Amino acid sequence: MCGIFAYLNFNVNRERRYILEVLLNGLRRLEYRGYDSSGISIDSSSISENVILSPPPLVYRQEGNIESLVKSVYEEVAATKLNLEESFSVHAGIAHTRWATHGEPSPKNSHPQTSGPENEFVVVHNGVITNYEVLKETLMRHGFTFESDTDTEVIPKLAKYVYDKANEGQAENTVLFSDVVLEVMRHLDGAYALIFKSRHYPNELIACKRGGPLLLGVKELTEDENSGASFSDFKILKDGQPKELFISSDANALVEHTKKVLVIEDGEVVHLKDGGVTILKFENEKGKNSGALCRPASVQRALSILEMEVEQINKGKYKHYMQKEIHEQPESLRTTMRGRLIRGGSSKAKSVLLGGIKDHLKTIRRSRRILFIGCGTSYNAALAARPILEELSGIPVTMEIASDLVDRQGPIYREDTAVFVSQSGETADTLQALEYALENGALCVGITNTVGSAIARNTHCGVHINAGAEIGVASTKAYTSQIAVMAMLALAIADDTISNQDRREAIIDSLFELPSRVKEVLKLDHEMEELAQQLIDEQSLLVFGRGYNYATALEGALKVKEVSLMHSEGILAGEMKHGPLALVDENLPIVVIATRDNCFSKQQSVIQQLHARKGRLIVMCSKGDAVSVCPSGASRVIEVPQVEDCLQPVINIIPLQLLAYHLTVLRGFNVDQPRNLAKSVTTQ
Ligand code: UD1
Ligand code: BG6
Repeated sequence: MCGIFAYLNFNVNRERRYILEVLLNGLRRLEYRGYDSSGISIDSSSISENVILSPPPLVYRQEGNIESLVKSVYEEVAATKLNLEESFSVHAGIAHTRWATHGEPSPKNSHPQTSGPENEFVVVHNGVITNYEVLKETLMRHGFTFESDTDTEVIPKLAKYVYDKANEGQAENTVLFSDVVLEVMRHLDGAYALIFKSRHYPNELIACKRGGPLLLGVKELTEDENSGASFSDFKILKDGQPKELFISSDANALVEHTKKVLVIEDGEVVHLKDGGVTILKFENEKGKNSGALCRPASVQRALSILEMEVEQINKGKYKHYMQKEIHEQPESLRTTMRGRLIRGGSSKAKSVLLGGIKDHLKTIRRSRRILFIGCGTSYNAALAARPILEELSGIPVTMEIASDLVDRQGPIYREDTAVFVSQSGETADTLQALEYALENGALCVGITNTVGSAIARNTHCGVHINAGAEIGVASTKAYTSQIAVMAMLALAIADDTISNQDRREAIIDSLFELPSRVKEVLKLDHEMEELAQQLIDEQSLLVFGRGYNYATALEGALKVKEVSLMHSEGILAGEMKHGPLALVDENLPIVVIATRDNCFSKQQSVIQQLHARKGRLIVMCSKGDAVSVCPSGASRVIEVPQVEDCLQPVINIIPLQLLAYHLTVLRGFNVDQPRNLAKSVTTQ
């Protein structure tokens, strides 16, 4: 969804061309999140201190991909004879990728949105302002005219209104930039992350948020390294020292510049000025209804270090991120389990240690019910883990799609444990469900890939899946790591029961082996490419699964549909006779998952019944079972390595991920950024 990037160089000379490239490259790093238009704002000339009012900032906006913005920026730069070599010792630039919510993708609806023709205030915004209509009406009554269909446009206009009002009757500006923004925030409802730039406050930026992630990255440069080639270790954020500051909604856009970051918190207003960083925050929840006299407090915060490497955001030897992430799974699973599986010894049983929940295990064991809550692939991962959690814990586990739980206001009680599963940790529906569960007093546990995300911060406890940055919109390695974590969660919860110790030890052994089994199944890559070739012109694909692999059917179908744009449906095989059987003929391809587990014989019978109706079958079975499981005439057999039944979904999804990947490439669609989809859905 929408993405924010800003770059401020201080006491270090940077040419306009360089500044433009840093901003545009920042946007390229955000591309994967999904967007349909983009824009940037830079200064039209370097700003001398004696000038009373600096010239209006330049704003460039374009619909379509980043490269169309790049093209239009350089065309306009040439047309207006803007000097790309002009050097700025201080400069503040902002940039944005937009995913349309209010108004179609178009230059006028792209961000930065502006206060008016003079660009006195320009703003980039992630999120939704829910009271924008009321604000718009009020501003229109005060003479403002609106050019876009966005909710965002009220923000720069409100900033101008506040600024003008505060300076009424004054010869010069008497109000601080941060005071303008704090006042604006008091009037905004909804969820947002914002950056403000203003011609009244040259070379300054303000970032603030209520919902939606924002990070400030700090790169301090030593004085004699003004070229920016290297930089010193960060010690104290000294005001006068040359530095580069970056703000982004996504750590991926920062890591190539710096790993030193400040995770901006809700309600904070971060002011970058004269090389310093000031953080202000209202002491009450919103600063709302607190009257003009209420002053925000200044907050001291420490920087943290991003635990990611630049290589994670590059494709390396692969053509696409999705391909890279599928093939990374042996390693990502290893990282997920690192330090968490205990081998045991002569006197000690094998066990699992999840540092993030160990102090809450007693409460979880006492809960009357466990709810798994998530969206999309994360929901499917939870579904895959449900059987083992029920089996080992004996606690009823119910599944909830986050938006549906909130729509129904489904009952949640203090005796419940609610587990929120989210790769990004920022999905709006999941966050709303979390808020609801917290209000109802449940113990809230997070399972996320993103340290510092809203889910990680707002749950009582949880587990990071540590799968590494996932950039392909279609989630692959996060899915398998989520299942591994939830299987470990089940093992940890059941750790105090003797009766199922053998079963637990068998699962732990299988977890140890899982990365090498995943490596083995990845060898099917070429076979899946051939299968994709056979299916390239199909309209539809069904996937039948049950038991542990009902989730595999849903997730396999989701992968195919989201990237290859082929209709695909995951079907619980037990429901076959209650409808789906009507679709079966000799043309419609059907994948049936029939690996060895407690549902094996039932799936064999499903295969027979489909075969009797001349179904076009693609059967996935355990290695060595091809002859016994598949009727002569099955169009293809996919043999996969066998692991402990509850971990089999980790193995079984991989050929389907590969199939979806190859189908997409062969059909000529964008595999990393599928049409209309976003990596992280931060609006409802
Ligand atoms: C933690 C450290 C890890 C270190 C290990 C060594 C972090 C992020 N992890 O890993 O670097 O090597 O100790 O002991 O610093 N949490 C939530 N909600 C969530 C996810 C996590 O509240 O959705 C909380 C956990 O309850 C825990 C903390 O975040 O307090 C870290 O969780 P996790 O990274 O899973 O813990 P460890 O695996 O112990
Ligand atoms: C989006 C993504 O729809 O959000 C999916 O495109 C993802 O890949 C879903 O599964 C849920 O996201 P998250 O971050 O909460 O796991």
